[in-house]
Amino acid sequence: MKCLCVIVPREEGEKVRKKLSEEGRLRNDARIVSDEISVFIPVNSTEGLSHPTKEMDFETVDVPKEYKDLLNLPPGLMELLPSSFDIVGDIFVLKLIDEMVPYAEDIANALLETNRNAKVVALDRGVKGEFRTRDLVLLAGEDRTVTVQKEYGLRFEMDLAKVYFSPRLATERRRIADLMVQGERVMDMFCGVGPFSIMLAKTGKPSAVYAIDKNPEAINYMIKNIKLNKINGVSPMLGDARDIAPKLARPDRIIMNLPHTAIDFLDVALKIINPRGTIHLYIILEAEAIDIIRRSVAHLAVSLKRGISFKNIHEVHTYSPTQSLYCFDLLIG
Ligand SMILES: C[S@@+](CC[C@H](N)C(=O)[O-])C[C@H]1O[C@@H](n2cnc3c(N)ncnc32)[C@H](O)[C@@H]1O
Repeated sequence: MKCLCVIVPREEGEKVRKKLSEEGRLRNDARIVSDEISVFIPVNSTEGLSHPTKEMDFETVDVPKEYKDLLNLPPGLMELLPSSFDIVGDIFVLKLIDEMVPYAEDIANALLETNRNAKVVALDRGVKGEFRTRDLVLLAGEDRTVTVQKEYGLRFEMDLAKVYFSPRLATERRRIADLMVQGERVMDMFCGVGPFSIMLAKTGKPSAVYAIDKNPEAINYMIKNIKLNKINGVSPMLGDARDIAPKLARPDRIIMNLPHTAIDFLDVALKIINPRGTIHLYIILEAEAIDIIRRSVAHLAVSLKRGISFKNIHEVHTYSPTQSLYCFDLLIG
């Protein structure tokens, strides 16, 4: 096909291609060509470009279709289609507003058709109950909710309908691993299938990791995942963190990832943590409530005669239009 292109010296090719792509001028339906001296980059407009331009023949490239291209929803709904999804292993997890639910199967089939990596598409009707499991409805693809998620070279097997897992915490887990000092004793109070514990054990060189969860399914997968990743030094424990934590050797670092109720367990963590230890407390909040939480945490620490300072409070990810998941890093002593 014939189209306009920019002629750029080879050494500048990648830089100019990136810039054109950022400006929305790069044509992705034509293949870039080059000779010994120049790169010929197909563009949709040449206006204002400083490099020489011309029209020439290019090989056509198939543009990958977006799932939205396969759908024909009533007016007003197309714009409301989600543009991102949680992807856990090969399962696409779909959250839809009520008006979109009647079209859930069409959306799921379109996703399956346009994403080679998707093998299952499920509707997420919310994370529920004490074990924080997703209420999933299978919409398209294979009839299963078991999958394996890959994260920083680690693998986590799970049944997404029976245990909690969020791929959106990968960077956060890495952040904590990077903060660790060799030989620390870690307690993961609400460990799920083990993504924090296993990541910290793999890269943080702890002396021990105590991983507690009340959900038997989570602990079973945790044991599997320890083997799958050939990890040493992690002890999975089934039960209530409130009962188990005080019976263990004092930790230097505690992970408290139970965002709606972790604060109810903070008294336990403050009582058992070693001096100069760190607590990572995860809470879902509106930004305006940060100060209230900060004050109530400080008040609790004073009542338990533990000195604390807030090393860092940061937004991990958004949770709803008004709330986000925050991590409070508390330093003891
Ligand atoms: C939000 S999930 C976090 C799981 C894991 N940390 C992760 O990042 O995937 C919270 C976990 O806490 C567990 N849980 C809830 N209440 C508990 C309690 N009282 N003691 C121990 N675990 C509990 C749930 O079963 C669930 O697996």
